[in-house]
Amino acid sequence: MQTDSEVLPQRSGGLDICALIEQHEGRNYELHAEHINPANVRTLQTIGFDRCYVRGEGPYLWDIEGTKYLDFLSGYGVFGLGRNHPDVRRVLIDFLNTDYPSLVKMEAPMLSGLLAQELKKRMPNQLDMVFFGNSGADGVETAIKYAKCATGKPGIIYCEKAFHGLTSGALSLNGDENFRSGFAPFMPDCRAIPFNDLEALEAELLKGDVAGFIVEPVQGKGVNIPSPGYLYEAAALCHKHGALFIDDEVQTGMGRAGRFLAIEHEGEIDPDIVILSKALSGGYIPISAVLCKKWIHDKVFSSMQRSVVHSSTFSQGNFAMAAGLAALDVIDRYDLIAKAEKLGDFLGHALQAMIPRFEFLHEVRWRGLMMGIEFGPPHSLGLKTAWKLIHTMDKSLFPQAAIIPLLDKHHIITQIAGHHIDVIKLLPPLVISEDDVQWFLGAFEDVLIQMHRFPGPAWDVLTDIGRMALTHRAR
Ligand SMILES: Cc1ncc(COP(=O)(O)O)c(C=O)c1O
Repeated sequence: MQTDSEVLPQRSGGLDICALIEQHEGRNYELHAEHINPANVRTLQTIGFDRCYVRGEGPYLWDIEGTKYLDFLSGYGVFGLGRNHPDVRRVLIDFLNTDYPSLVKMEAPMLSGLLAQELKKRMPNQLDMVFFGNSGADGVETAIKYAKCATGKPGIIYCEKAFHGLTSGALSLNGDENFRSGFAPFMPDCRAIPFNDLEALEAELLKGDVAGFIVEPVQGKGVNIPSPGYLYEAAALCHKHGALFIDDEVQTGMGRAGRFLAIEHEGEIDPDIVILSKALSGGYIPISAVLCKKWIHDKVFSSMQRSVVHSSTFSQGNFAMAAGLAALDVIDRYDLIAKAEKLGDFLGHALQAMIPRFEFLHEVRWRGLMMGIEFGPPHSLGLKTAWKLIHTMDKSLFPQAAIIPLLDKHHIITQIAGHHIDVIKLLPPLVISEDDVQWFLGAFEDVLIQMHRFPGPAWDVLTDIGRMALTHRAR
């Protein structure tokens, strides 16, 4: 039965969304604990990330108390253009006001044709056909099906530590047991090889059953950057052995890495399939795009009977297509790709310059504005104790010593870059300014100074969290 407070507030025309938001402001974690994911609520509360954000603009968020945050996470990379980009919003409002029909289905919608045309122009090689989906994993599923159908082979090779999404097919290509646990059996004939290892790739290709090799041009988990020439040679090996080279640019694409596609850092490379998602619609609407060579497409959609053999109800929704066209326009007009490279280099070099001063800081690696900061064991005795203590409690705990105070004291949102590694990841929007970079640099330096004082308050928080995690696991 509905109580009074559960009746949706009305205004002329129906639901009053602003009143609804106002009525329930601050109830986020209570609602999630009850209806969405209580374990996630506990995690966020434990590390102090249980904030209620009520406004977003560009690279900034504001919480319910009016505190301003710098968002160096960008919704896992979705907000490449920053939040609520006014130019994309204007396009969407104009488009809504046209009453233009979407998803008629028994027709060929014009806007998806135009977005496909624009995306093709930005590819480093000849990719002829475009499929539109609704998420990164949906794009990966498309690529898996295309590769199997085009080559007539079953095998998909992927890299250790890879992340291609969490649907069943994509999970079969996931290189992290923490995500796979509990969901076996996986798709057959999927085999993992080390990232950056051409010999291992060729050994798999020589087995003769490989449909495709899927790879992230920068691995999201850990921010692992390939050696120069690796991706180029991997593509050549795939072609030599009749397999497809699948470039997963879900996170790295759309200018994030200082090129439209991160793979362009390899020079003239020839991917067979490219997958885009995340920033493609400016953060407004779920979308993915899979670009492929014509011969691959011809094999999949080989006759009129097979013309809808791969599809999805929401594929090519006009709102997503309009947002995609607007996002590309914003990237071009504001020169965001060059900006990502310039600011990424500025931030990366400044962080690298801190390494000699801080024992825990081991490596900074980046492509454009996708950056990994790796911590490692210190040499002095006291700090060694801290390192050991934290790692004994939990192998994913150490980087929390950076991301918790970055949020709590400096109001900067970052994330750890994966399970059981000592890396934090920065994915700022491409619209950040030099002042924002300075905000991060000042904050990070302060965090490092605190981390290098052991014993000290920075470590008390972490040991408390470690103890709580241990108690929870023991239950
Ligand atoms: C490289 C890569 N591929 C695929 C995916 C899956 O995308 P989604 O979460 O939209 O399904 C991700 C998500 O982070 C990703 O980083």
